[in-house]
Amino acid sequence: MGADAGALRLGGPNLRMGFVETTGSMPPKKTVVTERENEFMPNEKVAVIGAAGHVGLGLTLSIADAGHQVFGIDINQSAIDTVNRGEIPFVEEGAAQMLARVLANGRLTMTADFSVIANCSVIIVILGTPIDENLNPVVAPLHNLFRSIRPHLRNGQMIVLRSTVSSGTTDSIRGTLERETQWRVGANLFLVYAPERVVQGKSLVEIRSLPQIIGAYDRLSFHTAEKFFSTFVENRCLHVTPCEAELAKLMCNMARYTAFAVANEFYLIADQYQANVHRIFDACGYDYPRFTVPSPGANVSGPCLFKDGFFLAQGFPFPELILNSFKINESMPVHIFRKIQLHREIRKVGVLGLTFKSGSDDTRYSLSFKLKKLIEAAGCDAACIDPYLPKYKDFSQLRGCDAVVLMTPHAEFANLNSLAEIVDNGRCLYVDIWGFWPAMRGKSANGCFYGGEIPQHSATAEPHAATEVVAVSTR
Ligand SMILES: NC(=O)c1ccc[n+]([C@@H]2O[C@H](COP(=O)([O-])OP(=O)(O)OC[C@H]3O[C@@H](n4cnc5c(N)ncnc54)[C@H](O)[C@@H]3O)[C@@H](O)[C@H]2O)c1
Repeated sequence: MGADAGALRLGGPNLRMGFVETTGSMPPKKTVVTERENEFMPNEKVAVIGAAGHVGLGLTLSIADAGHQVFGIDINQSAIDTVNRGEIPFVEEGAAQMLARVLANGRLTMTADFSVIANCSVIIVILGTPIDENLNPVVAPLHNLFRSIRPHLRNGQMIVLRSTVSSGTTDSIRGTLERETQWRVGANLFLVYAPERVVQGKSLVEIRSLPQIIGAYDRLSFHTAEKFFSTFVENRCLHVTPCEAELAKLMCNMARYTAFAVANEFYLIADQYQANVHRIFDACGYDYPRFTVPSPGANVSGPCLFKDGFFLAQGFPFPELILNSFKINESMPVHIFRKIQLHREIRKVGVLGLTFKSGSDDTRYSLSFKLKKLIEAAGCDAACIDPYLPKYKDFSQLRGCDAVVLMTPHAEFANLNSLAEIVDNGRCLYVDIWGFWPAMRGKSANGCFYGGEIPQHSATAEPHAATEVVAVSTR
């Protein structure tokens, strides 16, 4: 039977009825699935591997909340225990309520036991995919995972790879699967690459609302994945090849990353001329449709943007734009610190925001720590403040700072007057590359100003202004 013949029905009783039953340790008696109907029911058994992670958890909850029976598998036992207690380990809007629902109705089981995979019709893999100390993508854990779950794989299951990966990874996982099981992808097992594109913090809304890019080898695999996703996604599924889907995810992120690098380079150029980049950008964008550069940013990094360029550039000899963007964005703390040192002698510098983006408690790859190291290496004290991190909530630490740098434009930093009151030093130099504080955005020396220059009762960053900055700074 060709891969497109018939429609696939996975899971539930049909896993027993429609497919040749084999264990992972034996090749199947028949090599293809012969009986299919392609309706997914809301009560499929679904395994999510990497379920306690920053984006895995939102996905796991959303699938369970749509009515499926979900096994959230993770190797982090303490995160499993936290979720099983009904607690969300990080900031994610609406997740606590959804978790309470799916624990109460028994739709979610968090576990470290991989054998539950054998009972599932869909297996989603959303492990972290970091880069190593030499900036090389680390993919061995993914391959090891597929080798280790082999005894639990069953004929007819659909595997959805959702981690961010270099192009060609789905092909090599397909090879691993076919070698390990002696089954054929597209016949006995279904494998698609469907990248996660949500933004942390808003994932529950975005999982439902974003279109799904599905990298599938054939139409049947695509339609099978589409049927499953349509049980919890309201938008369309788009069919591309696995390689195209891998590139699509990386290009989405790198388009943003290079756009921020352009903004940051323009900021640096404007600085050479002592010109205010926000006045320039505001003038460029006023009633003019072809200027789409985001705000410059002090903290353009984070777990995805920091690493995804190296996944995209892997095997490509001249990824100059991506590498130069990395150099520009990663060097912003150095630029800021030098600027402060040029302006004045410093002993204590306030660092506003330690997370990589506003409204989040995620500190992974945040450039605030680079700035903190620079401050400390110069023999100065760093007063780090972040309202989302319990250890750093004490705003009074800012008192007496000689300089204050806005690294993460959290809404909690919107009131510049009250911050300046705490700092209590008219000679303190403030640095805001984002243009977050409206009173100083156009008036400052390209984002730098002294406490004494702040107008009394200056306008607080309005919710809409903060939202704009958040919109360009989320990643
Ligand atoms: N964080 C984001 O905003 C975001 C957005 C879109 C896509 N992504 C991509 O999604 C993937 C996951 O990212 P994340 O930020 O959630 O990572 P994370 O590190 O927060 O989560 C990964 C989870 O996988 C678990 N894990 C690791 N190895 C495992 C194994 N062998 N078996 C079972 N569980 C295992 C970890 O314990 C952890 O809970 C990455 O590829 C990332 O690039 C992330």
